[in-house]
Amino acid sequence: MSDIILGIESSCDDTSAAVIKDGWLLSNVIASQDVHKAYGGVVPELASRAHELNIVPVVSEALSRAGVKPQELTAIAFTRGPGLLGSLLVGTSFAKAMGLALDIPIVMVNHLQGHLLADFIRQPGKEVNEPAFPYLCLLVSGGNSQIVRVDAPLQYTMLGQTIDDAVGEAFDKCSKMMGLGYPGGPVIDRLARQGDPDRFKFTKPHIPGLDYSFSGIKTSLLYFVRDEMAKDPEFMEKNKEDICASFQKTLIDILMDKLVKAAKQTGIKDITIGGGVSANSGLRERLRSEGEKRGWRTFLPEFKFTTDNAAMIAIAGYYHYLAGERTPLDVAPVSRMSDF
Ligand code: KG4
Repeated sequence: MSDIILGIESSCDDTSAAVIKDGWLLSNVIASQDVHKAYGGVVPELASRAHELNIVPVVSEALSRAGVKPQELTAIAFTRGPGLLGSLLVGTSFAKAMGLALDIPIVMVNHLQGHLLADFIRQPGKEVNEPAFPYLCLLVSGGNSQIVRVDAPLQYTMLGQTIDDAVGEAFDKCSKMMGLGYPGGPVIDRLARQGDPDRFKFTKPHIPGLDYSFSGIKTSLLYFVRDEMAKDPEFMEKNKEDICASFQKTLIDILMDKLVKAAKQTGIKDITIGGGVSANSGLRERLRSEGEKRGWRTFLPEFKFTTDNAAMIAIAGYYHYLAGERTPLDVAPVSRMSDF
């Protein structure tokens, strides 16, 4: 008999539901929340209210696109954390209620594990291209900057992580500071393509081991822009492409230096990337070229599977389900990774 899993993701500002059958994706629906744009960042209270509005239509759309009736579901996988507590509460409560109504098990998933396993989402009609275990995943988003060693679907070790800001935060905060808008990553990425990445230099951190730090570069950019603007108020407008290109290159250098170090230390040559920042064109290009140079096999998931989506939660939930894991109905969401 087939295993049909409904995945639910609501950790931040995307409400998403997906259906997978025996590991193959049948549907993946994502409702993003534009309401936060006006505030230059995600407003937690507005996010949870939008999840409440979106969750029922998103789940029914995912089931209808998959051609699956609720009664045919085997289990419901949901993001338990980490993320915004109010947002997580919506997805978790919905999964519990639906599981109870259908009398089927629910399976909790760590959001980060979803990102780690995004390459294993199989799509009908598309070639299967999966990394071999063990592989390294560079997980980069608005909340995470990590290098993770994945030994098996449910077995992973954090090799390094940020000690302060996430790299996506650096993109977003610096974009806001330069008056370029939110979310900052896509704007900086677009402007960077037209600029000179070697024109300006920004401070790189000296952090031991495989950990990252991104707060210093934020300050370095702040002082740089402030000083230059004092000399020429038009400086930002005249040079924004070069500033973005140089800033982005510095962030990519920081990310890649540690990834190369991790690959050397572990001898692992299958490298994947996940999280919203992995949509960055400069980073993708660099990973590809670095991979060719070093004999790595690199895996770049499709854009729709790099940002928050329920397909990755469904596939991770599928592995948990196969391992016999079931989550009790009194489960509560958790906001932090350390609470998992
Ligand atoms: O994974 P994600 O959708 O949400 C969480 O953080 O959980 O990641 C969002 C982050 C934001 O910081 C956004 O600026 C960044 O991903 N991002 C990018 C690009 N597209 C999105 N950063 C750099 N370049 C991009 N093209």
